Amino acid sequence: MSDPELVQGFNPKIVRKLFAALKPYTGAVLVSLAALAVSAGAELAVPVLLQSGIDHGVMKNNLGHLTLVSVGILGALLAGMVASFFQVYLLSRVTQDVMKDLRTGLFAHFQRQSSRYLYNHPVGKLVSAVTSDVATLSDFFNTLFTSLLKDFLVMMGVVVTLFVLNAPLAFFTVLSLPPVLVLVVLFRYWSRGAFRRVRAQVSRVNAFLSEHIQGISIVQLFGREDKTREAFAVENRGLLHANLTELMVNAVFRPLIDVLWAITLGFLIWFGTGLSMDHAVTLGVLIAFINLVGRFYQPVGSIAENFTLLQSAVAGGERVFGFLGDSQPIPDPGTRPLSDARESSIEFKDVRFRYLPDEPVLNGLTFRVEQGHTVALVGYTGAGKTTITSLLTRMWDIDGGSIRYGGIDLREFRLESLRGGIQSVLQDVFLFNGTIYDNIDLGRGLPLHRIEEVCRHVQAHEFIQALPKGYNTELNEGATNLSAGQRQLLSFARVLAQDPRVLILDEATANIDTETETLIQKALGELLRNRTSLVIAHRLSTIRQAHKILVLDEGRIAEEGTHDELMAKQGFYYNLYKLQYEKKAVAG
Ligand SMILES: Nc1ncnc2c1ncn2[C@@H]1O[C@H](COP(=O)(O)OP(=O)(O)OP(=O)(O)O)[C@@H](O)[C@H]1O
Ligand SMILES: [Mg+2]
Repeated sequence: MSDPELVQGFNPKIVRKLFAALKPYTGAVLVSLAALAVSAGAELAVPVLLQSGIDHGVMKNNLGHLTLVSVGILGALLAGMVASFFQVYLLSRVTQDVMKDLRTGLFAHFQRQSSRYLYNHPVGKLVSAVTSDVATLSDFFNTLFTSLLKDFLVMMGVVVTLFVLNAPLAFFTVLSLPPVLVLVVLFRYWSRGAFRRVRAQVSRVNAFLSEHIQGISIVQLFGREDKTREAFAVENRGLLHANLTELMVNAVFRPLIDVLWAITLGFLIWFGTGLSMDHAVTLGVLIAFINLVGRFYQPVGSIAENFTLLQSAVAGGERVFGFLGDSQPIPDPGTRPLSDARESSIEFKDVRFRYLPDEPVLNGLTFRVEQGHTVALVGYTGAGKTTITSLLTRMWDIDGGSIRYGGIDLREFRLESLRGGIQSVLQDVFLFNGTIYDNIDLGRGLPLHRIEEVCRHVQAHEFIQALPKGYNTELNEGATNLSAGQRQLLSFARVLAQDPRVLILDEATANIDTETETLIQKALGELLRNRTSLVIAHRLSTIRQAHKILVLDEGRIAEEGTHDELMAKQGFYYNLYKLQYEKKAVAG
């Protein structure tokens, strides 16, 4: 795994893109920068005013001047405060806006992607791109503008002010700068390593936790608590050590900077006092120097840390823009509506398909489903049955051959129209957080009586009615508050509500009690009536309802015919049937 934290240096392309993201907010950014200059100026004005107050007010007993200076200092402090407020507020707002834009952009981007893209990008990474990677970008603007830019302005300002106040003294003071710079560079080097180790370890701990908390019941069922705890302890200790190293680096660096500061101060006082006795330096200048040097050293302690933060923010940006630049949508050049097809037959001709380069799933698959017919597809697990359904709805595109609907190549249809008319009931029923009504309606806003009618057809109405809140019952994540059979009936209702021309049913393998089974059979009959349908059947009762049975093996149709024909043949289907159904038939 390439750890994003290990990205070296600042990628100028990414930095440019980050600035481009600011474009819609240029006005606010400019005002914020102006406020930043004012607040830096105010910070420098205070020691200068102090100098004037001491030299021309205190030393000369000039109360008027002293009052003036006091008012000036108060004014500078207030101006600094107000400017600082505007600067921080405006910049934070802009940052939040930019983050919102990027989250919207990323989400829309992911929605356009094909199954192949989603297969190649683990969900966790996509989620963390939208949440945490985007969040690190706020560090970019905040650190850059509020910390680094302001610190830089103040530090430069301090040096200039020192020279304006007293050039010879400034010259000697500035001599302490080279060691500071060397220290900062060294620290940046150490702290970056430590920071990366912490980040890497944090993500390991997170990954471990999310996996093992999700799978906690498996861990408990198999009595793996001790082993898992030990494994976690290892990762956790790793995090502790990484954190301690980082702490150590900080603990060494800050006192070192303080020592340098103290040395500079001592030198300043010793040398400055000597000069002041010779009347080369006034007391006010000396005090202003001491104050200014303090302001110079204040940001030094955090400057290296800020650089590291900035770098990791740029790495976050690299991930975000990397996702935005990486696109594999299903091509949708088709313009025809599905209604262009005069009949709703389906034809697979020599279809070849693979998910991975060297693992073909379908090898020249050919079959036909006549309009209004129900065709059952059977085969061993992993034979490629579900794959066929994904190809029909173009969740994946085929590598060779052709799939036609009503004689027209699927790729000629508009994707939206295609998916509206060819609907599948998936093997794993996916229900969203929301009410039962929402889950059937899928945002189209159908009237409740229409939904109820659909549910009556697929035998779901009765159990929904029996729930305390009926159609307004909230389903929790994964709809664990419903039984497998109930979930199946809901998924039938969902598809029937769309009234598709073609139906693909990928039957769940889960065992269902006989009563629900009967319900589902009745529901199915309703669902399949007068519809062209391809049914991936696991239940014998479903298979028997079909006009024709296709037996899939090694990516091709191995046999086809009715149940009786195929049984008489004593071939592939016969064996499959014996293996899969005879045990059940005995048990049932
Ligand atoms: N998203 C995917 N990426 C890579 N390989 C996949 C993917 N989905 C399925 N496969 C592989 O393709 C083959 C066919 O899978 P498919 O899901 O179509 O089987 P199936 O016939 O539906 O099996 P089952 O009866 O268990 O549902 C399997 O070898 C499977 O490992
Ligand atoms: Mg399957």
